[in-house]
Amino acid sequence: MCGIVGYIGHRDAYPIIIKGLQRLEYRGYDSAGIALYDGKDINLSKTKGKVEDLKNKSQKSISLEGKLGIGHTRWATHGVPNDVNSHPHYSNSGDLVIIHNGIIENYDSLKKELIKRGYTFSSETDTEVLVNLIEEVKRKEGVKLGKAVQIALNQVVGAYAIAVFDKQKPDEIVVAKLGSPLAIGVGENEFFIASDASPFIEFTNNAIYLEDEEMAVIRLGKEIKLRKIKDDAIAYPSIQELKLNLEEIEKGGFDHFMLKEIYEQPRAILDTYRGRLLAKEGIIKMAGIDDNLEKFLNANRIIIVACGTSWHAGLVAEYIFEDLARIPVEVEYASEFRYRNPVITDKDVLIAISQSGETADTLAAIKLAKEKGAFVFGVCNVVGSSIARETDAGAYTHAGPEIGVASTKAFTTQITVLTLLALKLAKEKGIFNNTRFHEHLTELENIPAKVEKALLTNPLVEIIADVYKNSTNCLYLGRGYNFPVALEGALKLKEISYIHAEGYPAAEMKHGPIALIDEHMPVVVIATNKGHYEKVVSNIQEIKSRKGKIIAVVTEGDEQVRDLADHVIEIPETLESLTPLLTTIPLQLLSYHIAVMRGCNVDQPRNLAKSVTVE
Ligand code: G6P
Repeated sequence: MCGIVGYIGHRDAYPIIIKGLQRLEYRGYDSAGIALYDGKDINLSKTKGKVEDLKNKSQKSISLEGKLGIGHTRWATHGVPNDVNSHPHYSNSGDLVIIHNGIIENYDSLKKELIKRGYTFSSETDTEVLVNLIEEVKRKEGVKLGKAVQIALNQVVGAYAIAVFDKQKPDEIVVAKLGSPLAIGVGENEFFIASDASPFIEFTNNAIYLEDEEMAVIRLGKEIKLRKIKDDAIAYPSIQELKLNLEEIEKGGFDHFMLKEIYEQPRAILDTYRGRLLAKEGIIKMAGIDDNLEKFLNANRIIIVACGTSWHAGLVAEYIFEDLARIPVEVEYASEFRYRNPVITDKDVLIAISQSGETADTLAAIKLAKEKGAFVFGVCNVVGSSIARETDAGAYTHAGPEIGVASTKAFTTQITVLTLLALKLAKEKGIFNNTRFHEHLTELENIPAKVEKALLTNPLVEIIADVYKNSTNCLYLGRGYNFPVALEGALKLKEISYIHAEGYPAAEMKHGPIALIDEHMPVVVIATNKGHYEKVVSNIQEIKSRKGKIIAVVTEGDEQVRDLADHVIEIPETLESLTPLLTTIPLQLLSYHIAVMRGCNVDQPRNLAKSVTVE
């Protein structure tokens, strides 16, 4: 959460920073700010609102000149979103200016100490405390900015990715990282700083990703040297060549990133199994699994930790692993797992699922499991992310950048990777014979084409959305493999349209939610022909008797549900374990259209952030 951008070099910093902030806006968007050094002074503009608001304000109020600058887009932690709490923040002298993504947990005691020494504060933020702490260290110890940052950070408890510069020494920016991501783009006598590589991808393919507890003084004309914040040891950066494609981070003709990403799913699923799933040969090849097969085969159980949509993918995986590979699975919210003193042994395998690879709670759960000796496997989308680096092994989903805050293609590609893993284990354990294995591989290979077909429901879903766009509540029901899909459908709707929605196991409806059903309640029911079809049909009858409005997702050709439901959305037939990859598509589209019709900001829903790097 929060996006940071910086530039030092020979180009005008302003357009680079503004465009960069727009690309990082998925990380937080309640306020934004920019500070530019024009050769003499720092010009700073910040505002509550979006980067677009910042653009309007800054163009009217400050000089936009300068080849050095930093910018920030905020997701508030300390202090409400307003102009004053927005970043960048000045130090009391006005010489230092800082941007920060993260939380300084001991800011209150540091602030009291600084107040005693005469410092004053205009904002409620922890960040303003940090910049003044750096200033105080610099003054008291008589050290340069880099050293002052290092000493100050050793007094700080919390998480940060920061960039700070000093108007008295405007040929350098100091950056540091612990817990929040920070990438440095290395160009020809110019450097870019950002929370991810998207702000600088059109200028350079060369990036350095700082590790936790590393810092750097980025100076024009000098090679970058990284230092360990704790003990000053030199770390040698490895420059990575990025493969990110500019088109992938733009909307490409779609009105919203979310819609683009929904439509990218056939390609994303295919990219995720490409080279791994060799149906003709009857092989699944995944280095992260092949090299660690024994760990999985000898595991007492698999523990899955994740948050949000990734947690729902974990729930689908629970059904897949237990049903296909007969391995006991527990699925945990990472935020609960890390604090409940869980019993973990070296016979456990922990799978961490995360699109961003930066979610603070998931990262903490991984560290805990590693301490207790478990083998930790990551399923991440963002290459080189903190979780990808922290895990013992892993498999990337190849969804490509996901920019819409509501996760779509990340979910289906996570399920794809986890299905490959479960199938591989089922085969290795001798649970699947060649015929059954082949049947599953071939059907998984058919899924992208079937997702294409499921996407053809879009016009019908739009009509249904129009009928229910003014609802205040909505219930989603599913059983077995499709219970987590019901949870995910409800999450999508509440995230982007602000309609209260709940996902429930269809049979559990009798134990509570049925009390809510009347003629105003839309109930989305997943009733595919495999699994517990007849039971779900009975649940539909129960809803109908109470006059609930039924939107059913069924297998094509279904007759029985058609007679009962108010609306029927057909998806292609597939194996039961693969149905979540199809049933989820119309639910994504439904939430998308309802949100658009309600005038909501689909890609940047209020209060949410794409990557939650604070706990
Ligand atoms: C945030 C996002 C969700 C996402 C969750 C977990 O809440 O808004 O879309 O599912 O974080 O993120 P991760 O990157 O770990 O999958």
